Amino acid sequence: MNSPFRVAVIGTGFFAQNHLHAWAGMPEVDVVAVCDIDRERADAAAAEFGARPYLDARELLATEDIDFVDIATTPPTHREMVELAAEHGVAAICQKPLAWEMSDAKAMVDAMAARNLTFMVHENFRFQYPMRRIREVIDSGAIGRPFFGRISFRTNFDCYANQPWLIDSERMIIVDVAVHLFDLARFFIGEPTSLYTQALRVNPRIRGEDVATVLMRMPEATCIVDASYETYADHLTYPQTFVTLEGTEGAVTLGPDYRLQVVSGDQVTHEDLRIPHHPWASEPWNGIQDSVVNVQRHFIDCLRSGRTPETSGEDTLRLLDITLGAYESLESGLPYPVGSAL
Ligand SMILES: NC(=O)c1ccc[n+]([C@@H]2O[C@H](COP(=O)([O-])OP(=O)(O)OC[C@H]3O[C@@H](n4cnc5c(N)ncnc54)[C@H](O)[C@@H]3O)[C@@H](O)[C@H]2O)c1
Repeated sequence: MNSPFRVAVIGTGFFAQNHLHAWAGMPEVDVVAVCDIDRERADAAAAEFGARPYLDARELLATEDIDFVDIATTPPTHREMVELAAEHGVAAICQKPLAWEMSDAKAMVDAMAARNLTFMVHENFRFQYPMRRIREVIDSGAIGRPFFGRISFRTNFDCYANQPWLIDSERMIIVDVAVHLFDLARFFIGEPTSLYTQALRVNPRIRGEDVATVLMRMPEATCIVDASYETYADHLTYPQTFVTLEGTEGAVTLGPDYRLQVVSGDQVTHEDLRIPHHPWASEPWNGIQDSVVNVQRHFIDCLRSGRTPETSGEDTLRLLDITLGAYESLESGLPYPVGSAL
């Protein structure tokens, strides 16, 4: 067997725990170091995952012999961390959103490309098991060519309990949730040519928007992306995404509790999807946690094979253009011509 890939995880906060568990479960990966400016967090992760703790990423990279970094800090530090990886000639996987500004994202992509280093963004929704099943349904031809989509994430789960930084974030649900839904729209239907946004702040306690609806236009389809952190329902479905795709030969629907329905001509089938189990995963996060494993497996497959990751840095520039464009549309009140910032 080849020797394991040596990773350093930078940022050991809330979501990084999933990254760490997923790496620890992969025999082809060795978590050799972790880094957080918060000493307690760095030490706790180091102790749990048998890694060396650092408070400074620069010192970590100067000291450790690693194959790649996994960047799980919040967006303001992403550029610095990716450039550090490029400087040290190591591959990188970085959490979404890649950056708040297109210029920062382009700089990261350029820095990694200049050294010919693998660079992937940890965009996990398309790697969720139900989303891969929907893609299989589309690829099977069962629904024909999709001409309409609705991709929806609506909940009143208290997202601020685990992620208090979202309370003060000037940009909130579009950059936190809709970004994933935009990527799903691309994954299922293709690239949009324009989009139009409406959004609100319903919760007066927060700074940014917590309800958003975006209408995307593709060459031969339309797709509605809608997200809300203020929606009551008969039971908690957080963090599930609901999908409706209508095609020329049928339709596919992913409803609450991972129930998949496929209509193909006059045939109707139902499937209660079961999320693969991981001993460290917990409800209601398990669907997301399983996708973290899939993302990280994909990254390792790409490192091994030299393939470009599905959600490469380069690909993510398109997603960022859509995401930032959604805010531009909101501010201008006009449709955003997708691709303008590329
Ligand atoms: N894909 C998903 O489903 C999902 C879910 C939650 C969060 N996220 C993303 O994960 C990222 C992290 O979010 P979080 O909620 O875990 O945040 P968090 O604040 O809990 O964790 C970030 C950690 O980074 C550390 N940090 C900050 N600056 C640092 C630096 N210069 N060097 C080393 N460590 C530093 C902080 O001390 C903190 O422990 C964000 O980009 C967020 O959007 C993705």
